[in-house]
Amino acid sequence: RQNERESLLIVLNFAKTFFQETLLKSDEGRGIGLSYFRERGFSNPTIEAFDLGYSFDQWDALMQEGTRKGYSRELLEKAGLIISKEAGKVFDRFRGRVMFPIHNVSGRVIAFGARILKTDKNQPKYLNSPETTVYHKSQVLYGIYQAKQTIRQEDICYLTEGYTDVISLHQAGIKNVVASSGTSLTTEQIRLIARFTPNVTILYDGDAAGIKAALRGLDMVLEEGLNLKLLLLPDGEDPDSYVHKVGAEAFKTYVKQHSQDFIDFKAGQWLAEAGDNPLKRAEGISDVCASITKIPDPLKRQTLSQRVAQVFHVNEQSVISEINRLLRKQQ
Ligand code: GTP
Ligand code: MN
Ligand code: MN
Ligand code: MN
Ligand code: MN
Repeated sequence: RQNERESLLIVLNFAKTFFQETLLKSDEGRGIGLSYFRERGFSNPTIEAFDLGYSFDQWDALMQEGTRKGYSRELLEKAGLIISKEAGKVFDRFRGRVMFPIHNVSGRVIAFGARILKTDKNQPKYLNSPETTVYHKSQVLYGIYQAKQTIRQEDICYLTEGYTDVISLHQAGIKNVVASSGTSLTTEQIRLIARFTPNVTILYDGDAAGIKAALRGLDMVLEEGLNLKLLLLPDGEDPDSYVHKVGAEAFKTYVKQHSQDFIDFKAGQWLAEAGDNPLKRAEGISDVCASITKIPDPLKRQTLSQRVAQVFHVNEQSVISEINRLLRKQQ
């Protein structure tokens, strides 16, 4: 209901402000939260642009302030801000963490991501709001509100994995960037990007998990008819760590020089593994062709068979036959 939605957005906005004030004005927030952001190289304007905050390391600091301001426990719970256990025990969901508000396209806060400060294997690194009336994880891209204008202007969107990737690239002047935030990419997220541009570059972490996630996301982006490029960062780096390491200009140069289309990206993975094993190479060709069949536009599909033939050193006709075989199988 419209009324409940609006109430939730209001209480989430109260929480955002409370976490911001805690970060900037309390001794605990400044001593722990702000120093953490400083260590990560986040400037004041960046902290402001993303509404970053800190949650007190106490059981019910937010709940007390919320009830004092007249928000009911029921509303705080529906917003995912407090958790109530059996026997009437109630406590704040986010405690002693730096807070990353998640905004919808129009800039309203709909949820939070929250990071622990020190590694602790008994606790998740990031804690997220649960699904609520206003927060459907699969439909949201972190950073879309801060990025949308630049995505339109530059006519391209960079897609990363994490909150800090978005923030650090934004600070480095690359503002057309969003994150899927750990979930595997969804069709709804891709359609959200498509409202602003048909061009996407995937910038996932340079580790095995990042490559796997990129391969999974690739077909979905093609299925939506978008133009896709992919970029592998050096092993062990993510956009956040790499832009801090080399600086904004070198990062942009790296992106220019290393962005690949999906054919080169996939072929690169396959050829590295296959060497001159002909069966593996055939498997690779078939796999690349399978991705081509996801592209809705037949004209676009046609022009790509030649590229596959070149990359794998086979004749174009055999590639066309394979694409057609796979298309028939899908019908
Ligand atoms: P930093 O360590 O702060 O630089 O984060 P990161 O973004 O580099 O983290 P990582 O590459 O490990 O994960 C990418 C994204 O997945 C994060 O930004 C989160 O959105 C999400 N994620 C990572 N760890 C967790 C977790 O333990 N729980 C949940 N719910 N999400 C996580
Ligand atoms: Mn990161
Ligand atoms: Mn990672
Ligand atoms: Mn990462
Ligand atoms: Mn990181």
